[in-house]
Amino acid sequence: ERPGANGATAVAQPNIALIKYWGKRDERLFLPWTSSLSMTLDIFPTTTRVRLDAEATDDAVTFNGTPASGEERRRIAGFLDLVRRRAGLTHRAVVDTRNTVPTGAGLASSAGGFAALAVAAATAYGLDLDPTGLSRLARRGSGSATRSIFGGFAVWHAGTPTAPPAEADLSSYAEPIPAGDLDPALVIAVVNAGPKDVSSRAAMRRTVETSPLFEPWAASSRDDLTEMRQALLRADLDAVGEIAERNSLGMHATMLSARPAVRYLSPASVTVLDSVLQLRRDGVPAYATMDAGPNVKVLCRRTDAERVAGAVRAAATGGTVHIAGPGPGARLVDEDG
Ligand code: PMV
Repeated sequence: ERPGANGATAVAQPNIALIKYWGKRDERLFLPWTSSLSMTLDIFPTTTRVRLDAEATDDAVTFNGTPASGEERRRIAGFLDLVRRRAGLTHRAVVDTRNTVPTGAGLASSAGGFAALAVAAATAYGLDLDPTGLSRLARRGSGSATRSIFGGFAVWHAGTPTAPPAEADLSSYAEPIPAGDLDPALVIAVVNAGPKDVSSRAAMRRTVETSPLFEPWAASSRDDLTEMRQALLRADLDAVGEIAERNSLGMHATMLSARPAVRYLSPASVTVLDSVLQLRRDGVPAYATMDAGPNVKVLCRRTDAERVAGAVRAAATGGTVHIAGPGPGARLVDEDG
């Protein structure tokens, strides 16, 4: 069977932002207020197969073999509509997604998920997109997916802020960025694998609309990005970690000051944050970053990862701990891969 003739399968990994994306200036086009920077992981792959079905009257979507419904299904079908419009085709699709990461728990499942879907759907519908085009397409599924098209470290450009949205749409994509020999690891403490109460989409909207801290954070995040790029080039793990930690805590401050507040941190998160401080007091460079959930990701050197994982595991009683390194970008695999 010719790949792309009527189906394609893609794999993508999540990414963890060291400079966060938080807040859209255009909700329909998924244009962010600020640029962000992340590391794509080598764990938690999502495999997505898209097959066109000329007879079907609706898209059929399954997650780990279970039919999707409600908002989940609508998001995928909406994304496929976009691909269909661009391809000039009307065929419905059968979408089968296999995820190895807990969904909706602030573990970036949507990043790997929509990156894999973008690559598989673009191929199945015969869109001829380069990585930039794939990154722009993935953006329309989930902002963080924009970056998972690429492996290693990537920057997602916010797009020309003064330009009208239709124009900014063209300049808002991710690209891989150079980094020195950092040998990084992210130790991921899953303190709660359940889905979150407030979606990142709703939380972002509320933050942008009501938090008095949003604008100052966005301004400082732009400076953080400049410093982060330099720190990565110098392979200065302490600087990378410090900038990432303050950027993430600042993002959470914008949510805590939203009205009503959005609080993703739980007591277990704070206990893990304390263990990271203790590691630093003990001379181990370790820095925390958190997303839209209670789980904590700890940046450290690969050579310290086991020690960091041990400390974090002791703090995150009842949780699970995973060690990730930099991973590859989204890619096509064999139809049955
Ligand atoms: O995954 P999304 O597109 O709903 O956005 C989540 C954003 C954060 O994970 C909190 C930060 C980021 O840049 O990934």
